[in-house]
Amino acid sequence: MSENHAPTLLAAQRLALDPRIAQAKELLTQAVRDHQKELNQVRPPRPDLTSGYAEKVAKFEGLRGGTLYFPYLSAGLGNGPYVELADGSVKLDMITGIGVHGMGHSNPEMIGVGIDAVLCDTVMQGNLQQNEPSVELTELLVKLATETGSDLQHCVMTTSGAMANENALKIAYQKNAPANRVFAFENCFCGRTIALSNMTDRPGYRVGLPVTTTVDYLPFFDHRDPSGSLKRTMDIFERQVARYPKQHANLWMELIAGEGGYYAGSREFFQTLAQRARELGIAVICDEVQTFSRTNRPFAFQYFELDSLVDIVTIGKITQVCATLFTSNYKPKPGLVSQTFTGNSASIMAGLKIVRGLVEGGHFTPAPESSKTMRLHDLFVSGIKAIEAKYPGSLNGPYGLGGMVGLTPFDGSAASAKELTMKLYEAGLMGFIAGDAPSRLRFLMPLLVTEPQHIHEACRILELVVAAMVASRQG
Ligand SMILES: Cc1ncc(COP(=O)(O)O)c(C=O)c1O
Repeated sequence: MSENHAPTLLAAQRLALDPRIAQAKELLTQAVRDHQKELNQVRPPRPDLTSGYAEKVAKFEGLRGGTLYFPYLSAGLGNGPYVELADGSVKLDMITGIGVHGMGHSNPEMIGVGIDAVLCDTVMQGNLQQNEPSVELTELLVKLATETGSDLQHCVMTTSGAMANENALKIAYQKNAPANRVFAFENCFCGRTIALSNMTDRPGYRVGLPVTTTVDYLPFFDHRDPSGSLKRTMDIFERQVARYPKQHANLWMELIAGEGGYYAGSREFFQTLAQRARELGIAVICDEVQTFSRTNRPFAFQYFELDSLVDIVTIGKITQVCATLFTSNYKPKPGLVSQTFTGNSASIMAGLKIVRGLVEGGHFTPAPESSKTMRLHDLFVSGIKAIEAKYPGSLNGPYGLGGMVGLTPFDGSAASAKELTMKLYEAGLMGFIAGDAPSRLRFLMPLLVTEPQHIHEACRILELVVAAMVASRQG
């Protein structure tokens, strides 16, 4: 092959240009396309597969030592937001592994990325040895983070949202030592390490764990009382600062409460709080593991115009590989932040593809109304509101922000939210619960492959299930 390629190309570059690879990709992609075509609408399980499937799920639950939320085992093929399960059913996936599968299922471009990744010299990349896509992804994330004025000049990748958050915490503690207290919002979810379970405002998630982190909780923004809510939060903040002077290492903010129930804060609320934290030398950290890419800006801190106020920001989920971004002022000392793995080659290359796809696909625009993500939100919410108008009290707002669509089903009880979520699943639509008192239903659509017809289909299923639940409540 390749006599016509200049001899100065590296062997790896010549491999990438080898026509056999392009042919193999084309063949594989074509095979996938041929077989995925039929997966273009929801369908029920196949009766002949049901009992074997149930046994497999039960076996898996036994092996894991705990139940699965959904009896979900993918067959390994999908088509955009549709996915075929091993029981023969096809689901419309509007939760995407809680915001991970931005390109949906069996996306041909992702298959191309996967092939490039398996041709990489190693499966895993780590802090000691990394490949060029790591530089490209880090550079792209820093470029996006700084384009509207933040000073987040640095970015380190890692394997989970929890590790990105641990790194953020460590960086803030080290810089602000010996301060050891943390401000966080009520109802926050931060991840599953011991420190983050301490911070997460769910007692059930830390049963039996030692207390390692002292957290002062602040009430989150209340959309029903914006100015009163800001005042209450600032009062508590000031009282705790006066009570424990110079003891707070960071202010931890999730700008759209994710696990907390899909509630957005306001610019004024976050800016006032972050400004005051900054004045006191308290690190302002935004946990964007769930919110990254869900508004008309890459980062939610940009949507809320906090560019000049953020010190450390974490991302994950849709980016496939997670990361902690920080300003030069918060550069950690050598030895604080490292890990064997930064991610596997496929995650890093897929992350690059997805973030570029979001940039090039019209998701990030200065005006919210022209962003594809925001338009998908509006369409989804207008469908939900139409159902609510027909069945008052069934699907209550607020309805979230951008690519994070949420609602409160019926009386807001945990039982109603779970009943609706499970009935939707049986009917072919995947959403998930969020929040507590009220319990909510949420959707995280695959942003890069969701088209209006998928949202119409989701709302059609939602309406069918709501109608049945209303009828059974009346009867
Ligand atoms: C806001 C937020 N932070 C952190 C995490 C933890 O991320 P991971 O599950 O990848 O460790 C999550 C996961 O749901 C999250 O939503």
